[in-house]
Amino acid sequence: MSKQQVNNSISVDPASGKLGILLPGMGAVATTFIAGVLAVNKGIAQPIGSLSQMGRVRIGKRTTKPNKPLISEVVPIQNLKNLAFGGWDIFKDNMYEAAVHANVLDINLLNKLKAPLSKITPMKAVFDKNYVKKLSGTHVKKSKTKMALAKALMADIKKFKTDNKCSRLVMVWCGSTEIYIEEGKVHKTIEAFEKGLKENDPQIAPSMIYAYAAIKMGVPYANGAPNLSCDIPALVDLAKKTQTPIAGKDFKTGQTLMKTILAPGLKARALAVNGWFSTNILGNRDGEVLDDPDNFKTKEVSKLGVLEEIFEPDLYPELYKDFYHKVRINYYPPRGDNKEGWDNIDISGWLNYPMQIKIDFLCRDSILAAPIVLDLAIFLDLSKRAGMSGIQEWLSFYLKSPQAPKGRQAIHDIFKQLHKLENTLRYIGGHDLIHHLGQDYE
Ligand SMILES: NC(=O)c1ccc[n+]([C@@H]2O[C@H](COP(=O)([O-])OP(=O)(O)OC[C@H]3O[C@@H](n4cnc5c(N)ncnc54)[C@H](O)[C@@H]3O)[C@@H](O)[C@H]2O)c1
Repeated sequence: MSKQQVNNSISVDPASGKLGILLPGMGAVATTFIAGVLAVNKGIAQPIGSLSQMGRVRIGKRTTKPNKPLISEVVPIQNLKNLAFGGWDIFKDNMYEAAVHANVLDINLLNKLKAPLSKITPMKAVFDKNYVKKLSGTHVKKSKTKMALAKALMADIKKFKTDNKCSRLVMVWCGSTEIYIEEGKVHKTIEAFEKGLKENDPQIAPSMIYAYAAIKMGVPYANGAPNLSCDIPALVDLAKKTQTPIAGKDFKTGQTLMKTILAPGLKARALAVNGWFSTNILGNRDGEVLDDPDNFKTKEVSKLGVLEEIFEPDLYPELYKDFYHKVRINYYPPRGDNKEGWDNIDISGWLNYPMQIKIDFLCRDSILAAPIVLDLAIFLDLSKRAGMSGIQEWLSFYLKSPQAPKGRQAIHDIFKQLHKLENTLRYIGGHDLIHHLGQDYE
């Protein structure tokens, strides 16, 4: 085994010029994200929850005075001062009006940002009510085919880039969760997909049309919702062809964040888990959309996958074979964006004696999601400049249902995900990877 694993071969283009961040879906998460960045740039708030802004990575040995620079000192990431924001929505509201409607951020804070927020207005959306049954909007593009809609989005992207004098772009889906769709024939190859776009195949949802438009143009794309979007072979292949980094699915924010922090700990101590019951109440528009069974199914599948991979019941049948996992989301308007997530975990210890753990997380959905949008945008842009394309597994850290390359198992354990993220940053920055082997390597 070589003592040092130094990578000097990777070259990264500088983060020069302006980065445009495009958001299909400009509701609670998107407005909280944009207003947050503006507030940080104005010096009236801190980007708490964002690793790209506040995180540090250890470089070199674990000496008594370890070298732990900020991530921005390890890799060349885009400066927050040089961003432009844009996007699409089915409602015409500008970002000030949409943020007031979302009712996440304090009105006094929003009023301080009113001028720049009001200037950002959504472009007309590619939308079809069949995929989000609880919403209807009028600010929607009309075309005969899905291919024509994809081309209209590409024209929007090009125009946004020119109008805002951006050097580079990224796109992060912050739109509503679409109905559950399973991967089918039309998703298998790019030829089948493009034919499907021309023939209006119902298996092609609007989020896939945005993903296609972005990837086709080489614009990095992340999917913050649980619907498939770019998680289909056709778009994964296209991403490789156009050298575009992609990541998905579903921002890992409240309950699932807690799950992927706690479950690895229980597993590490060989404690058995007999059941994990999770329920939520939330009252924002996202909660309303998820109140429809077809849309909830998409979220449910995304949330359920997490524990299976962490507990590996096939390898540890005595501990996890028949554990019961249930997830519910209840739409309860009085709570707005301030979700409450309860977990009841039935565990057993030595000689099978039962115990219980209860979690009551009074969280704020969009406050947890906004820094994830920022980090995904910043890191996808870094990937692109570092010549990395296709699925960016190192960004699984941010995602509830991470996309993994074909034949590879996704990683859910947050500590493994963090390790991968940090090592990828060391790799891009040209530093030794840390693998905790022996004194010299720790
Ligand atoms: N907030 C969280 O903690 C969290 C966590 C994980 C995932 N998510 C996902 O992020 C997404 C956004 O959440 P939110 O709370 O901002 O919801 P939201 O309802 O406030 O905003 C979504 C916006 O998307 C718009 N929209 C729907 N379909 C569209 C389309 N085809 N094109 C353009 N706009 C479209 C809606 O009009 C709405 O304004 C949801 O899918 C949600 O499930 C959120």
